[in-house]
Amino acid sequence: MRTVLVLNGPNLNLLGTREPGIYGSATLADVERMCHDEAGKLGLQVDFRQSNHEGQLIDWIQEAGPECAAGRLLGVVLNPGALTHTSLALHDAIKAVALPVVEVHISNVHAREEVRRHSFVSPAALGIVVGFGVAGYPLAIRGLYDAVRSAEAIPTSASEGGS
Ligand code: DQA
Repeated sequence: MRTVLVLNGPNLNLLGTREPGIYGSATLADVERMCHDEAGKLGLQVDFRQSNHEGQLIDWIQEAGPECAAGRLLGVVLNPGALTHTSLALHDAIKAVALPVVEVHISNVHAREEVRRHSFVSPAALGIVVGFGVAGYPLAIRGLYDAVRSAEAIPTSASEGGS
C-alpha cells in the first residue's frame, strides 16, 4: 500500500487553541484523523508528522525523495507554517529530490498580511490548497493522488517500446 506523507511546520502542534478565529478549533489530531479517512478511501496509508524545526522538515523531505522514486511513497502534503514565507531551503530541498508536493494553508494567506502573500514553497509545489480551513488537507491528498495517477497513466516513449 502506498503512503502519503503529511508534514506540518512550526506552531501547527498548537492547532485548536492557536488563534481559533483564523485557524479554527480542530486540533492537529483531528486533522490527522481526517487525513487517514481520506487516504483510506483512496487505498493509501498516511504518515503524519509535525516539527517546529526547519532542518527536521528538510531531512524528512530529503528522505522522502528516494521513497517516492521507489514507488513506496505517493508524495507529500506540506503545510510549512511560517517557513512558507522565509525558507528558500525548503524550496531547494523539494527541488533537489524532485518530490511531488501539495502545499496547504488552513487560512487564506492572500487575504492576510502582505508578508504572507509570498511563498518560497509554491514555485516548487505541484499544487496549492489555500483557505479552506483544515478541510484543505483531505483536498490536498485527493489532488496529489489524482495528479500523480494521471502523470503515471501517460505512457512514456520507453513504455511504448519506441526506439
Ligand atoms: C499557515 C499560514 C502561515 O502564514 C502561518 O505562519 C501558519 C499557518 C496556514 O495554514 O494558514 O503557521 O500555514
